[in-house]
Amino acid sequence: MGTLLGSNKITSSCSAPPPYILFLGFFFFSLILQRVAVESTTLNYTSYNRKVSSLRLQRIQKHLDNINKSPVLTIQSPDGDLIDCVHKRKQPSLDHPLLKNHKIQKVPTKMPKGMKVKREERKLEWQMWHKNGTRCPKGTVPIRRSTVNDVLRAKSLFDFGKKQRRRLSRRNDAPDVVSTNGHEHAIAYTGSSSEVYGAKATINVWDPSIQVVNEFSLSQIWILSGSFDGSDLNSIEAGWQVSPELYGDSSPRLFTYWTSDSYEATGCYNLLCAGFIQTNSRIAIGAAISPISSFDANQYDITILIWKDPRVGNWWMSFGDGTLVGYWPEELFTHLTKHATMVEWGGEVVNTRANGQHTSTQMGSGHFAEDGFGKASYFRNLEIVDTDNSLTSVHNNILTLAENTNCYDIKSSYNNEWGTYFYYGGPGNNPQCP
Ligand SMILES: *[C@@H]1O[C@H](CO)[C@@H](O)[C@H](O)[C@H]1NC(C)=O
Ligand SMILES: *[C@@H]1O[C@H](CO)[C@@H](O)[C@H](O)[C@H]1NC(C)=O
Repeated sequence: MGTLLGSNKITSSCSAPPPYILFLGFFFFSLILQRVAVESTTLNYTSYNRKVSSLRLQRIQKHLDNINKSPVLTIQSPDGDLIDCVHKRKQPSLDHPLLKNHKIQKVPTKMPKGMKVKREERKLEWQMWHKNGTRCPKGTVPIRRSTVNDVLRAKSLFDFGKKQRRRLSRRNDAPDVVSTNGHEHAIAYTGSSSEVYGAKATINVWDPSIQVVNEFSLSQIWILSGSFDGSDLNSIEAGWQVSPELYGDSSPRLFTYWTSDSYEATGCYNLLCAGFIQTNSRIAIGAAISPISSFDANQYDITILIWKDPRVGNWWMSFGDGTLVGYWPEELFTHLTKHATMVEWGGEVVNTRANGQHTSTQMGSGHFAEDGFGKASYFRNLEIVDTDNSLTSVHNNILTLAENTNCYDIKSSYNNEWGTYFYYGGPGNNPQCP
């Protein structure tokens, strides 16, 4: 197993597939490539640009002026993104009314016990914009600049940067995901009524294809507290996502999300509203991840840890081997001021049934869990942070859930190297998933 750049490159799992499988894999891979090519020409990211009134444009521009802070330096990414280096104390998070006098916490008081922190800073070159070569100056944080088109692709200015309400209702203790709004999941989760102070996982990175612009496919960790059927669900989320609506392309991107009222008025993705405070000057949240895994070839994954600072109460996020990204201040939340009651890991897609059929938007790699390493996407080394601020493997204390296993499924297991892990995902639309 070799480590490459900021994301890990995994060259082999327990056993290498026999050559004929590789050949077959290559055959199917070329089929997939063709399909992606066809779909990307039909996905027109600007087709949502209806006629826009000048009043609407003014309102949008005002909003953008609010969230795009004036940069010390701007770095152009090869994929077209503009990364603004913004002074730490000018970042959008600090506009939050509850954070008026907030003093930025430079480092957490404690990392979770059991965390292997690498001292030397590795050459981090795992985001597309790193290829530019220019770095953000000391004292600034890199922020992906939002454009008028980004907002125009959203349903409304209010909806820009927000996740649609995930309608959940509970049967027993399961996060019984009733997808009345077309969100589908393949997830592993901890039983509720536990006190959880954080979670960690290493997530395989792919670029699932998306059928229509306003659907997405994401792979993430959820840290949850509050009730699923009420309006007070607190959620902290991070992982990678492909969202043509949010970013205007089909690249997997590092993202964060938070809400303290069940996805209603509070919270947003990334730094698109006041909330998440970034401390890292090399990682841009919302920027594309590169390289990504390919079918039956090189596999890449990212490691995300989220935990509650045991003294100060903020929820910190680290990337890879303990590189600090930033934190969600405790003030943002109601239930998460104490602890989380459930953690979920896995995939989520939106199925709008655009053609009257189940969407062909893929989850994970677009392959079912049964296909295993190099073909299906995985989460490995699932861990939670306990009351003692210690990282502990969840062993077999997790349950799994997928609404329709003919469309997307999940299979969890355990071994010494990967701890608790699972494969998940699927192609969506197929003869069994009409
Ligand atoms: C996408 O849609 C817009 C607006 O309908 C149109 O002007 C543009 O030519 C389309 N682009 C492509 C590549 O089809
Ligand atoms: C890096 O970004 C700068 C500033 O936007 C731009 O002028 C330059 O052309 C970019 N360099 C590369 C190699 O993309």
